[in-house]
Amino acid sequence: MCADIARGKALDTTGFGIEMAALPPIAEGRIDPRAWFERPANRFEIEIGSGKGTFLVQQAPLHAQTNYLGIEWAGEFYRFAADRFRRRGITNSRMLRGDATEFLAHWCQPGIAAVVHLYFSDPWPKKRHHKRRVLRDETLPVFHRVLTGAGELRLVTDHDDLWAWYEEHAGCHSDLFERQEFESPESAGGDEMVGTNYERKFAREGRPFHAMTLVRL
Ligand SMILES: C[S@@+](CC[C@H](N)C(=O)[O-])C[C@H]1O[C@@H](n2cnc3c(N)ncnc32)[C@H](O)[C@@H]1O
Repeated sequence: MCADIARGKALDTTGFGIEMAALPPIAEGRIDPRAWFERPANRFEIEIGSGKGTFLVQQAPLHAQTNYLGIEWAGEFYRFAADRFRRRGITNSRMLRGDATEFLAHWCQPGIAAVVHLYFSDPWPKKRHHKRRVLRDETLPVFHRVLTGAGELRLVTDHDDLWAWYEEHAGCHSDLFERQEFESPESAGGDEMVGTNYERKFAREGRPFHAMTLVRL
């Protein structure tokens, strides 16, 4: 955990953070998160499990015409990432605090995201916890619904068992997605897949990474 979080330094999410708990009830209908940005008509991408927001801090300034929504359920990381956007003036990024799978399944308007990024997602290695994995039989149709026409679900992991799970699920849902090679984003360093905090930590440990892109059919 970084020093600012550990010291409990006041983090300011004003203008850059949205609490899922403050959203209107589901019964009031779906909402369009693109409305949270200064230019709502711009291309829209989502990152699930942003942690400290490093991917978005690096990627968003390179693509001023794209709006990026990071979704993170851990309050301290959500606040840290939103505060980073505010301090750096990254006006095309926002953080949503809450469960991404719940938000996308029940609140979010369909057909709006060009990309869903899922990097170094929690592997939940015990079998009884597999139902907590972000990518599951139940969530792949949700991602399919939220993505635009040939939108992409981009996956990177260091975890062999989670990778086998991704491969199995990509095979089982080939009616929804076509598997393609993963291309690193522009913001990644020369020898990086994406350049997130977890990637950098795992790279120091010498772990190999796996990646794929699932293109919406
Ligand atoms: C292993 S960390 C990886 C963080 C970051 N992507 C990286 O590579 O450095 C996974 C993050 O996903 C968040 N997370 C896991 N499941 C989530 C969910 N359903 N909705 C929102 N955030 C989630 C966790 O709180 C955690 O910060």
